[in-house]
Amino acid sequence: MSMPQQVRLVEVGPRDGLQNEKQPISVADKVRLVDDLSAAGLSYIEVGSFVSPKWVPQMAGSAEVFAAIQQQPGVTYAALAPNLKGFEGALEAGVKEVAVFAAASEGFSQKNINCSIAESLQRFEPIMAAAREHGVRVRGYISCVLGCPIDGDVAPEQVAAIARELLDSGCYEVSLGDTIGVGTAGDTRRLIEVVGRDIDRSLLAGHFHDTYGQALANIHASLLEGVAVFDSSVAGLGGCPYAKGATGNVASEDVLYLLNGLGIQTGIDMAALVQAGQHICNVLGKDNGSRVTRALLAREQA
Ligand code: HMG
Ligand code: MG
Repeated sequence: MSMPQQVRLVEVGPRDGLQNEKQPISVADKVRLVDDLSAAGLSYIEVGSFVSPKWVPQMAGSAEVFAAIQQQPGVTYAALAPNLKGFEGALEAGVKEVAVFAAASEGFSQKNINCSIAESLQRFEPIMAAAREHGVRVRGYISCVLGCPIDGDVAPEQVAAIARELLDSGCYEVSLGDTIGVGTAGDTRRLIEVVGRDIDRSLLAGHFHDTYGQALANIHASLLEGVAVFDSSVAGLGGCPYAKGATGNVASEDVLYLLNGLGIQTGIDMAALVQAGQHICNVLGKDNGSRVTRALLAREQA
């Protein structure tokens, strides 16, 4: 299998990145981040979530964020929707693409969305029907594909079965999430090999949290298996509030550096992406999680 010539990066920083922050973040700061990311050439940005504010307070202002961002032509601005209520909120905010999220393990499903895997898939059905009616595209996530903080090991066959269900119900793509970042390159290749037996790899995406520092290796392993869509988070922001200790997604800047080195096209401007990451880190008062940004800034200062 040859490597893809082009890769689509799904920027999840404004959602996966900011959902985990303890401190309040203003709507204006979220809007600035999204607009900076569009300006850097990202073609897909996950802007927020229409989830219960009791569960994830940080995403409460997502409708206001959608109303204020400067939507650029050719850029997809998406949001998470866990149930019909969330979908309706997204629709009202003018969202054209949503993501539903299931888990590969029962323990995480209960903890994250308060229901079993089977119940979650049933809950998505009215979302899929409403999305069809309104011309909204739906992306599917599966969490804990390489391990669960509660249940431990997860069988690739289980991930394959849920991916099949999500695609059959109308998702156009399924993002495989290593929520707690435990997987290694060998696990990743095996996962894609098993999931890919019945599902075209062009319908799969990789979503690697970098908790154990394996995310870039896992992306490279996925590329070798023909996967061409990866989720990443500017400055490596993020984590999941329901997966204790899980750190951010792999940094978008670091993935871009890898892809640039492989000669794979993305259309993203590194300098602008670095600036977007630095700005939000300054706002949050935290260190930048991108190794590439840190290296580039150190070189500038030398
Ligand atoms: P529940 O408590 O079972 O829901 O939560 P419920 O239907 O019983 O409703 C309880 C209350 O929430 C009610 O309000 C509802 O109106 C309200 P009350 O009557 O008590 O005032 N409510 C809502 N409010 C706003 N928007 C909604 C909504 N739904 C209900 N959509 C529920 C079930 C799914 C709502 C909850 O568990 C939830 O919101 N979970 C979201 C958790 C989350 O966002 N996790 C992080 C994102 S997933 C992730 O990070 C993983 C990923 O990155 C991939 C990876 O890394 O693996 C995607
Ligand atoms: Mg995630």
